[in-house]
Formats: sequence, structure tokens, C-alpha cells
Amino acid sequence: MKIIAIMGNIRENSQTKKIIQMFQVELERYKQIDFKYIELRKMNLQLCRGCALCLERGEELCPLKDDYNIILDKIKHADGIILATPNYALQVTHLLKNYLDRSAYIMHRPIFFGKVFTSIVAQGAYGGESINKYLDSVSSMIGGVVIKGITITVPEGSAYNNRNVWSDLETNRVENSIKRLARKFIKQLYGNRYPKPTLFKLLIFRFARGSHKYSKCDNRDNKYFKERGWFHSEYYYDTKINIFKWAFGMLIDIYQKQKNK
Ligand SMILES: Cc1cc2nc3c(=O)[nH]c(=O)nc-3n(C[C@H](O)[C@H](O)[C@H](O)COP(=O)(O)O)c2cc1C
Repeated sequence: MKIIAIMGNIRENSQTKKIIQMFQVELERYKQIDFKYIELRKMNLQLCRGCALCLERGEELCPLKDDYNIILDKIKHADGIILATPNYALQVTHLLKNYLDRSAYIMHRPIFFGKVFTSIVAQGAYGGESINKYLDSVSSMIGGVVIKGITITVPEGSAYNNRNVWSDLETNRVENSIKRLARKFIKQLYGNRYPKPTLFKLLIFRFARGSHKYSKCDNRDNKYFKERGWFHSEYYYDTKINIFKWAFGMLIDIYQKQKNK
């Protein structure tokens, strides 16, 4: 099983990295896994210029020639992906944000079905949970199956002064959260990676496809949805949905059709 951690840490001596290493050890306790790190700070990644060529005409037209696709390929070949970052001013670091901005087209044209995502945030004190929420929604929109991420408040004093040795009590506290996440992550990796959509996910899919189906302009998203047969399918992938969800989906389809008459 291939796991990859996309690391947004800025510093070499990073608490985030230390936590991800603990997560790796936990996962390896369960199963044979191949765990790789991508530290964005070591990659050549230029800043998104906001030209929107990727969104409107296709990602291959991105004017930036750098390591973006190397990272994307590694994610494509992984089964499980961890988005990891320190909390910087209540958000991900600029390194991870830039990578996600550059990947915004995948939120329009999702590709990561069958891959399990989670997020881990390291922080000094406050605000990490909303970063998990943000990362988990991005992961879901790009197609991933998401295990709700966690925030670890690092032991006092270790955030800024590189105190890398934690007391046993501190280590235990962190390990307990990491263990719970590892258990869920492994279970999902070896379980059903194409789960039935929740009502919310079904709603997002039906609204997205409706907006493309009835759109007046012939952009890349339309073609993408059309080529995959998504204008007529129940969901992005083959799955059985119950009668209640089926009816709910039909209502959204009818509403969209009426609205665009
Ligand atoms: C510029 C900057 C902004 C930060 N903002 C927050 C914050 O909003 N909330 C918080 O709890 N910790 C904040 N921290 C603390 C870091 O999240 C914490 O030190 C984390 O462990 C750093 O991870 P790293 O060692 O991987 O860099 C901030 C640290 C820096 C350097």
C-alpha cells in the first residue's frame, strides 16, 4: 500500500514532520506500507499566477514549468494521502496553499476517486480544527475518501524553540491521537474505497453536473463531465444509492432543468 505525506512545513527542524513520522510508525505497525514524504519546501514550485487557463482551457496549458506534475504523479500513484501542515495564522502554510491553488482545477474535474485522504495539523495553541476542515473539504472535492483530520497541539515550549525531546506524558498524549487516526486510515484503505455518497456529496455532484450540462459555453469542465458519462450517471462512480437518495437526486435534476429552460 503506497502512502504519501504532502508536507507544508517551512522549517527543517519541524514539529509537523516529527508528528508525521510518528504517524508513519503507527501505520507500519498494522500493515506493510510504502511511506514517502514530499516536503514542498524542497521542491521547485512557482506561485500560481491566477491566469485560470487550467480551469477554463486545461491544466496542460499552465505556463509554470516546475515540479508541480512530479508531485501530482506521486499522488496519482498513492493509495493514501496525508496533507500535513503547521498552523500559520490560522491557515495552512503558503507552500501548501500554493500547491492547492495550483490544483484548483481538480476540484472542478475530480480525479482522485478510490484514494484515502486525511489531514494532520501541528499548532502551538489554537485554530487547527478549521484548517483540518478546509483540507478535508478540498480532499473530498478532488474525489478522495476522507478520514476526518486531526490537529495536534505540540507540547508547550516545543513550538518555537525547537525542543524536540518531549516528556513521556506529552508523547503519550500525541501518540493517542495519532493511533486513533492511524486505525481509521488503515481501515478505510483496506475497506471500501468507493463508498456510497452522502446526501451532501450527491447534492454537490448533481448541482455541478447540472451547471455543466446546461452551460452555454463549451469549456473544459463540460467536456470532462460529458466524456465520463456523468451527465447521465447516478454519481461519479458506480455505486448503489437508496431510493430516498435517488429521489433526492431526481429532484435536483428536475430543478436544474426547469431553471435552465
Ligand atoms: C508565522 C507563524 C504563525 C503561527 N500561527 C499560529 C496560529 O495561528 N495558531 C497556532 O496555534 N499556532 C501558530 N503558530 C505556531 C505553529 O503552528 C507551531 O509552532 C507548529 O508546531 C510549527 O510547526 P513546524 O515546527 O512544523 O514549523 C505559528 C507559527 C508561526 C511561525
